[in-house]
Amino acid sequence: MEFSDRTPKDMSPNPISEALSRSGSKPFLDLMNSNPTQCEFDYPQTLLEPLGLPHSLVYEPLSFGSEAAREALAGYLASKGQKVKAQNLLLTASTSEAYSYLFKLLGNPGDSFLIPSPGYPLLEHLLRLEGLKAIPYPLKVAANWPLELEKVERAITSRCKGLIVVNPNNPTGCFLSPNDQSAIIKLCEKHGLAYISDEVFSDFAYPPFSLSDCTNSQGLSFRLGGLSKSLGLPQLKLSWVAMEGPEEVLKESRERLELIADTYLSVNTPVQIALKELLQFAPDFQKEVLSRVSSNRLILERNLKEVKEVKVWPAQGGWYALVEITKQEVLEEALIIELLEKHQVFVQPGAFYDFPSGCFLVLSLLGPANLFVEGVSRLKKALSGL
Ligand SMILES: Cc1ncc(COP(=O)(O)O)c(C=O)c1O
Repeated sequence: MEFSDRTPKDMSPNPISEALSRSGSKPFLDLMNSNPTQCEFDYPQTLLEPLGLPHSLVYEPLSFGSEAAREALAGYLASKGQKVKAQNLLLTASTSEAYSYLFKLLGNPGDSFLIPSPGYPLLEHLLRLEGLKAIPYPLKVAANWPLELEKVERAITSRCKGLIVVNPNNPTGCFLSPNDQSAIIKLCEKHGLAYISDEVFSDFAYPPFSLSDCTNSQGLSFRLGGLSKSLGLPQLKLSWVAMEGPEEVLKESRERLELIADTYLSVNTPVQIALKELLQFAPDFQKEVLSRVSSNRLILERNLKEVKEVKVWPAQGGWYALVEITKQEVLEEALIIELLEKHQVFVQPGAFYDFPSGCFLVLSLLGPANLFVEGVSRLKKALSGL
């Protein structure tokens, strides 16, 4: 049987997945748990009540999502400083789906999109599933992970259709500086690229960071967000795309996206009806997450401070922390497996995120304090013994 190239030729598990399956019966502490619904946050008992309103029994398919839901979302985004008209908001079932719609809109098979490296591992898969190629552009391994603008420009080919930024980036937790952001938008204008800004973690910035409006005056800009991060409710399956651009091209983009979204109609009705009420939970949830993430980061920094040749990278936002082992001879994959098998603690390797070299560990800062403290103590013990 022949399968398409959209999934990898070799589907065999990598050594880390093999080690995880081997450890199936032995409990280990997952320091990479970033599922908010499993991290003991204070979700009110009544939170999901608006999902059961009788009006949800009526199916009114609308490709961009209901007007009421988009109006509610426009109000929420305005409260965050993002001005966007409801007509320029498209609802999707996830950010992954939002990407897939944009890739269908902008790329033909064989075309490419620029993605940050290191960065969110799913981007490459999402592109591949659409028959598109990922061209990584490097972020400089330095404080705040700045752009290397000449390298970004050099990576652009005639088949590039768009440039993706993740703000703040996963897993570095850094925002593009306002200078880098305007430089990259200029590059998009110069080369006719769409600008796609993934802002799913932008509510979790320390200190608060306002993302500037995208002013890709020649072409299209898309800003992505979703309830999976903003409200910690990935199971509700609601994300969005906010579009900007010159009116004529924006209108055509809306029409084409309407055709794409109408083919799937995947956003469920109850979540759209409940959206306005659900969004009222945002300030409490975001405050609680920020407090958890900040205190876990402090615990991590304090514990690893005395460990030689180990660096906790500073960040500006998001849910993750980055630990670099600067000792020369330590191999990342072997270390992850040793942490799992000998110390019963799991973190992810930098290789999953396309770090250029070195030994990086990625861990989630979402876990409840007791588990996090125990996980960090296992990590400290293991790293001290290297
Ligand atoms: C940068 C980034 N974008 C998007 C997503 C996925 O969001 P969704 O659950 O809405 O597909 C994630 C998930 O971790 C992410 O890290």
